[in-house]
Amino acid sequence: MQTLVDQLISDADNALRTLTGALPARRPTPQPSTVEEEPLALLEGERRHAAALMRVDHVGEVCAQALYHGQARAAQSDRLRAHFRDAALEEGDHLAWTRERLAELGGRPSLLNPLWYAGAFALGVLAGRAGDRVSLGFVMETEAQVEQHLKSHLERLPKADHASRAVLEAMSEDEARHGSRARAEGGRELPAPVRAAMRAAARVMTATAYWL
Ligand SMILES: [Fe+2]
Ligand SMILES: [Fe+2]
Repeated sequence: MQTLVDQLISDADNALRTLTGALPARRPTPQPSTVEEEPLALLEGERRHAAALMRVDHVGEVCAQALYHGQARAAQSDRLRAHFRDAALEEGDHLAWTRERLAELGGRPSLLNPLWYAGAFALGVLAGRAGDRVSLGFVMETEAQVEQHLKSHLERLPKADHASRAVLEAMSEDEARHGSRARAEGGRELPAPVRAAMRAAARVMTATAYWL
């Protein structure tokens, strides 16, 4: 049985690992399947645009860590708590991959990451307190929105950026699986106004993180 202090230390530890990039990937970074004989170099403007998109995706994964750990903290059953911790581990790969690609593109992580983490953690705790089926429904909706968002980034990435595309494609497949797993575990569809509010919040996050 964890005491409140143990819980606080473990939550702070997860937050620090997420924010400092100290979470190593468990799977290798996805690579483009077609090896170009002479890879097309990105123009300066394209590189900046790709880095900004990757920063947004990295923020999304910072939020995924925070949401899953918040939901694990507030889960009612031990089984679901384990499910969320496990999901956070797999999202840890996404976090590391996007951070690595962001650095390769010469970009830097969002300055507002501590804020995104704190907000998403609080939201995760709220979702968890609403009950396990609602919490799973929250995962279903989040993952569906992330998947749509990744599809739009795949279209917006510069044509020559095969490396970023390989990362986002692998993530998109994982997110689809996370969503269906939450549904299979008994997740309940959230009401339309809640889903709309989540989309609005995500829009604020993505628009801000492109620049900051
Ligand atoms: Fe993810
Ligand atoms: Fe996911």
